[in-house]
Amino acid sequence: MKPSLIVFDTTLRDGEQSPGASMTREEKLRIARQLEKMRVDVIEAGFAAASAGDFEAIRAIAENIRESTICSLARANESDILRAGEAVLPAARKRIHTFIATSPIHMEKKLRMTPDEVLEQAVKAIGWARQHTDDVEFSAEDAGRSDLDFLCRVFEAVIKAGATTINVPDTVGYNLPRQFSHTLAQLLARVPNADKVIWSVHCHNDLGLAVANSLAAIEAGARQVECTINGLGERAGNAALEEIVMAVRTRPDIFPVGIALDTTQIVPASRLVSQITGYPVQPNKAIVGANAFAHEAGIHQDGVLKHRETYEIMRAEDVGWKENKLVLGKHSGRNAFKKRLSELGIVLESEEALNGAFARFKELADKKHEIFDEDLQSLVCSEAVPEQECYRLNYSRVASETGEVPHARIILSVEGEERTGEADGSGPVDAAFRAIEQIAQSGAKLLLYSVNAITTGTDAQGEVTVRLAREDRVVNGQGADTDIVIASAKAYLNALNKLQTHREKLNPQL
Ligand code: KIV
Ligand code: ZN
Repeated sequence: MKPSLIVFDTTLRDGEQSPGASMTREEKLRIARQLEKMRVDVIEAGFAAASAGDFEAIRAIAENIRESTICSLARANESDILRAGEAVLPAARKRIHTFIATSPIHMEKKLRMTPDEVLEQAVKAIGWARQHTDDVEFSAEDAGRSDLDFLCRVFEAVIKAGATTINVPDTVGYNLPRQFSHTLAQLLARVPNADKVIWSVHCHNDLGLAVANSLAAIEAGARQVECTINGLGERAGNAALEEIVMAVRTRPDIFPVGIALDTTQIVPASRLVSQITGYPVQPNKAIVGANAFAHEAGIHQDGVLKHRETYEIMRAEDVGWKENKLVLGKHSGRNAFKKRLSELGIVLESEEALNGAFARFKELADKKHEIFDEDLQSLVCSEAVPEQECYRLNYSRVASETGEVPHARIILSVEGEERTGEADGSGPVDAAFRAIEQIAQSGAKLLLYSVNAITTGTDAQGEVTVRLAREDRVVNGQGADTDIVIASAKAYLNALNKLQTHREKLNPQL
């Protein structure tokens, strides 16, 4: 029997470092529940010292998730580690993941520490972390550009000090597969106590090689991979969980490890993360893209009909693709609605949240007679009332006529007070946004506007993502409706509401 690959998901920590992808406590908990359902081994729930919000989210995940190990990131200092220890305390299985940079450029220019000081700090950090848990992971940040001899010294020392997992990050996505597997092989051969720990890798995607580098490292002896759903993460992202897992599962002839994950939960997880963060999945994305299993060319279609494996190396249903299924309609009751949500793994925190979602479902069912799972997911995710709702859409009238300038009249409730805005625009969405801005005067800059149809058909709901930036904050807002202009206005207001909440946050790489 091959050992199983340890899947360490960092969507909630490194993934959250994608611009605008910050999530609320409830959103993080929802994703953590899905990761647990998928049987992810370790969930990196956040970076406890980054902000009070991050701490609370880790704590909530530690209290609610029983099957996966819950981990918090911490820099290699006593106060970060104490905070991480407190955050994961309620978890059934808990881990502290501490890190310090080891590359010459990071040590000299960022940390302003000598290599000996870095080594000493790393060893101390393991001692502090071990006071909270026996499960301690150490990362040598920017290992991909670090000196191999120095890495060997640091790793030997932290293993002696009690680290149980050693992570080798390619923080800036600089490595190439052959080089990275060589590094792994060297470390395993040269660190004298290498056999006492699990070796892990964490690859960034700056050259589009995160998955290739992770797979090369598994072949060389890594037993844990750090990855994110949809490859979300800092800059060009992390290694995509779904791609690593399916590569290992599909090629048992190559890899010395097996997969224990429930792969049928991959597509639901991908959708959930995309909906919550507002990061759409490109149609041709491997495994989870809408076209990943669609055969367009006649020759391919003919081949698949005659014998599926002529053009398919995986089965769509094995990663959780299902036929669009009509699930509920206008006459469905509250119990059927609640039951379907729970089958989809969506747990609403309170009766109030359930009532709100049910009311929105009824509204939608009046406009759109067939309600699919995707509609339900969107209804719950993108329409959830944010923690602080300053702006709410009360009314919108948008006129767009051939030869006329589009015009919008919008009425908002602003902290309970009704306010009206009117504006012309180059199109109906532009007019609606201008009318909103006439009221809000937010000074925010629109960075991204994107629309996706949630299901097929012209009565499908459009799901809109709006990314706004103000000063150093970037947020994503989502809105869904069968009317694209209303979905857009909702998304814009959702983003404005997020901008209103004060959430100062540290980036662990800074
Ligand atoms: O990319 C990186 O080096 C990290 C570490 C904190 C593991 O995210
Ligand atoms: Zn990272």
